[in-house]
Amino acid sequence: MSDLKKFDKEGKPLNLIPTANRSIQANWIQKYYDDPSSVEPSAEDIKCELQLQALSDFEPLNFLIDPGQFRREIAKYENSWKPYLRREGVSNDREGLLLVGMEGDTPEDESSRPEKMRAAGRWIHEDEFNVPTQAYHDLTCLHDLLNYWQPLGRTFLVRCNAGGWFPPHKDDPLINRRCFRVAAFLGPNVDHEAFEWVQDGRTVPIKKDRAYYVDTRKTHRTHAFVDNSIHLIMNIPKTWENVIKLITATKWF
Ligand SMILES: [Fe+2]
Repeated sequence: MSDLKKFDKEGKPLNLIPTANRSIQANWIQKYYDDPSSVEPSAEDIKCELQLQALSDFEPLNFLIDPGQFRREIAKYENSWKPYLRREGVSNDREGLLLVGMEGDTPEDESSRPEKMRAAGRWIHEDEFNVPTQAYHDLTCLHDLLNYWQPLGRTFLVRCNAGGWFPPHKDDPLINRRCFRVAAFLGPNVDHEAFEWVQDGRTVPIKKDRAYYVDTRKTHRTHAFVDNSIHLIMNIPKTWENVIKLITATKWF
């Protein structure tokens, strides 16, 4: 068996990305010194974030994905999953399938932003991914949820296999973030016997097939105990209209 830190399960070399450099990426005060506008919230940011703050960190939404339909529709993509954001020196069996990417992207293209930025050689914002791929069109079981927001930012499926994980991180802690996130948990392997999402220090109860607003400004981490644990990650442009749409879609009112 080849070194799974360097090769995928077929033995092909992984596209390895250096470990995140926290002293640069999370040096918010240096960003402020370099360009104060880069961390400055607009009046719209403050309005939207204050309203989002009224929701739970992990807020159930009125979208349930039909599990049988998902199983049938995802089958043709069985060989399309690509290793997702594999870091140097780390074993992490997780894969991606791209649903909303950039012009010309296929479902097999990079789903992660660091990989995409390295390929493009420039910074890319989540809302610069705004073109649906063929997988978006084919996965009609997701259309009620996906089409509710238009346009969407970077949207993709993650498949964690046994031992696949995301370390503790914040997607973006600043309130001038351009997108907020909705996640949905798909297929049979997403409840506590197969997968856990720890949000701000607490393991959240996940109902399979349901979509949730997740406050990813707060620290979160995930891990899978079995193969084929699939969740959908959506970046939704943070407009006032989309915030009100989100509030409208919450399960509890
Ligand atoms: Fe995250």
